Amino acid sequence: MVFLQTTNNKRHTTTITMDRKILITGAAGFIGSHVIRLFVTKYPNYMCYNLDALTYAGNLENLKDICDLPNYQFIKGDITDTDFIEKLFQEYQFDGVIHLAVESHVDRSITDPLAFIRTNVLGTANLLNAAKNLWKDNMEGKRFYHVSTDEVYGSLGKEGFFTEKTPYDPRSPYSASKASSDHFVRAYFHTYGLPVVMSNCSNNYGANHFPEKLIPLSINNIKNNKPIPIYGKGENVRDWLWVNDHARAIDTIFHNGRLGETYNIGGHNEWTNIDLIRLLCKIMDKKLGRPEGTSEKLITFVTDRAGHDLRYAIDPTKLGTELGWKPSLQFAEGLEKTVDWYLENEEWLEHVTSGNYQTYYDKQYGNR
Ligand code: NAD
Ligand code: DAU
Repeated sequence: MVFLQTTNNKRHTTTITMDRKILITGAAGFIGSHVIRLFVTKYPNYMCYNLDALTYAGNLENLKDICDLPNYQFIKGDITDTDFIEKLFQEYQFDGVIHLAVESHVDRSITDPLAFIRTNVLGTANLLNAAKNLWKDNMEGKRFYHVSTDEVYGSLGKEGFFTEKTPYDPRSPYSASKASSDHFVRAYFHTYGLPVVMSNCSNNYGANHFPEKLIPLSINNIKNNKPIPIYGKGENVRDWLWVNDHARAIDTIFHNGRLGETYNIGGHNEWTNIDLIRLLCKIMDKKLGRPEGTSEKLITFVTDRAGHDLRYAIDPTKLGTELGWKPSLQFAEGLEKTVDWYLENEEWLEHVTSGNYQTYYDKQYGNR
């Protein structure tokens, strides 16, 4: 399939041949920005459209190095707007979708669950419906990729791993909304034959992560000599994966994953929150030239998150054996790279922590 795409940006007007037209939703956010960068640079013959509503979590600064490429286009829009989404699909005739637009923060889902139901459930259903309507006469070569999370499987005890067969048991409004959207994706596969593929990934870390999440929030607080808030006793376990490795996995699954299947993505990298933060403190002391032990003094135990899942741990065997993916980076190296990125991108951090960030922070952490 070949499409002609005329680009008409500030620098040039040109006609290029495009093999595929891919809609990537939420690509101004953390993971989406890494995914779309990988796609526009690795596949110059794919036209990639970034559909994003630019909520507090969306930031076009994440994409300033690729925004002038002829195979990249930004579309500002809301996936919860049914008519808009329907018209967009009819107008652009996408033949692939990679869906990452989301309300992503568990703490915010506890204070405003309905926002999560709207975006994560209704928004996903709108995209599925528009894809079904556009592709109904010819599904050949089409693909709808839904990006999901390990949180849909619930909470593990000290032993065991989430596999693709683990029953769903979401426990926060965020994970319940993601689980619901996953069910709709499977329903569209079984009922309408929509060519879907899915993945459920563990916690990501890396550049451009919004500082409401544990790692970037702690980096920002350590830098500014502010307390590091650790929920409960810091004994909860998360399984961390470098965001660029997640993007590589999405590339692999989008192109080679079997239709109707889901793939768990993770790198066997479990950390209790307190051990992770202690490692981060050591790295920050070194990078900031502070005496060892300085940052650890900022650790402050605060009221636990309601319904706080104890442990997530992914078994990524299927993705490894079927599609040959494996993570590329060890955690200590990845965390150091991440710290370097935040220290080198002070302006980015300043921009995202101005405006409403402080209001959110004060509400969540009570002016600590
Ligand atoms: P994010 O919060 O950083 O980015 C979400 C993006 O979606 C933002 O750019 C935002 O502007 C956009 N968006 C929100 N509502 C929208 C709407 N109504 N219409 C259009 N755009 C909208 O999220 P993220 O961490 O990059 O997560 C992306 C995907 O990866 C999600 O599906 C999430 O469940 C999944 N995931 C995330 C992690 C993680 O650790 N962050 C791990 C596993 C899976
Ligand atoms: O597992 C994948 C999920 O990981 C994604 O689906 C979510 O979108 C993403 O936000 C992330 O969810 P978590 O709740 O695990 O991430 P968060 O960074 O918010 O918290 C990580 C752990 O740190 C968790 O146990 C809660 C704890 N925590 C978090 C914050 C923000 C603290 O102790 N203090 C904090 O201030």
